[in-house]
Amino acid sequence: MPLVTTTEMFKKAYDGGYAIGAFNVNNMEIVQGITEACQEEKAPVILQVSKGARAYANHTYLVKLVEAAVIECKDIPIALHLDHGPDFETCKACVDGGFTSVMIDASGKPFAENIEITRKVVEYAHDHGVVVEAELGTLAGVEDEVKVSAKDSSYAHPEEVEEFVSKTGCDSLAIAIGTSHGAYKFTPAQCTRNEKGILVPPPLRFDVLDEIVKRLPGFPIVLHGSSSVPQNYVKMINDNGGKMPDAVGIPEEQLRKAARSAVCKINIDSDLRLAMTGTIRAYFNEHPDHFDPRQYLKPARANIKELVRHKLIDVLGCAGKA
Ligand code: G3H
Ligand code: 13P
Ligand code: ZN
Repeated sequence: MPLVTTTEMFKKAYDGGYAIGAFNVNNMEIVQGITEACQEEKAPVILQVSKGARAYANHTYLVKLVEAAVIECKDIPIALHLDHGPDFETCKACVDGGFTSVMIDASGKPFAENIEITRKVVEYAHDHGVVVEAELGTLAGVEDEVKVSAKDSSYAHPEEVEEFVSKTGCDSLAIAIGTSHGAYKFTPAQCTRNEKGILVPPPLRFDVLDEIVKRLPGFPIVLHGSSSVPQNYVKMINDNGGKMPDAVGIPEEQLRKAARSAVCKINIDSDLRLAMTGTIRAYFNEHPDHFDPRQYLKPARANIKELVRHKLIDVLGCAGKA
């Protein structure tokens, strides 16, 4: 089937109590690892491209890689989405250039300005059959372009959501409820220890989510910053010459709980990066004389695939839903 928008995916996910995985793509091996897992598990998927990915790999290469996945993975719906579109021009370039969904992230701007920019993107995108994700609240964490400290982050305000959605016409809404971008979340100092002495990060604000759902019944909610920072890959990186700091990601049970509610899209990127980097580092330590990129990218792609399979089955609940 051709590339799809997220409209149908989100409706089924909302009604079915699961979420669609939105995974960032930057090169062929990442596209293949993700989509092979989704094809085998019969899971709908959103492949998303950031501003940084477009700068790194080039818009056309990424679109063509995703189109190749669409041809190879015949049984699953695939949407191509712009992640964290910074402005109208970038969103327009992606609408014009084959994407089926764009995010305008004006969450760092004052509320009225966020509405104004988002509405402009929605008008253009809808005229071209493309759907729009917008954002309220500010996530902590580190992305290519933005660093937001925990103190500068803020939860979404439930009392703003109805006005925002009705005035912008956006199709889905990313909200800040305590998730955080990157692989450095959360530091041990931000966590508490449970009775078994295990570090537990600050819990997601399900009360904020519930309040938003009450005000926007049936409306698809998106969670960014939802990597769980798998400790086996952090260890693999550090055992093989890396220096990743101790970090505790978003507990997978909390994401599973969110996926059962109005959360229809969950963004996971850093976990795949950790899997790829750990695998490549370990490979080079075991094979210091190898130099063919196919040799080390092959196990990296295979581990991305297995990690995505795990997310589809155990976290998102979207396996078998294509
Ligand atoms: O939230 C952002 C994604 O993880 C993409 O990151 O801007 O480094 O491509 P990036
Ligand atoms: P992570 O850094 O937690 O993987 O979040 C990715 C994300 O939100 C992409 O938009
Ligand atoms: Zn994000």
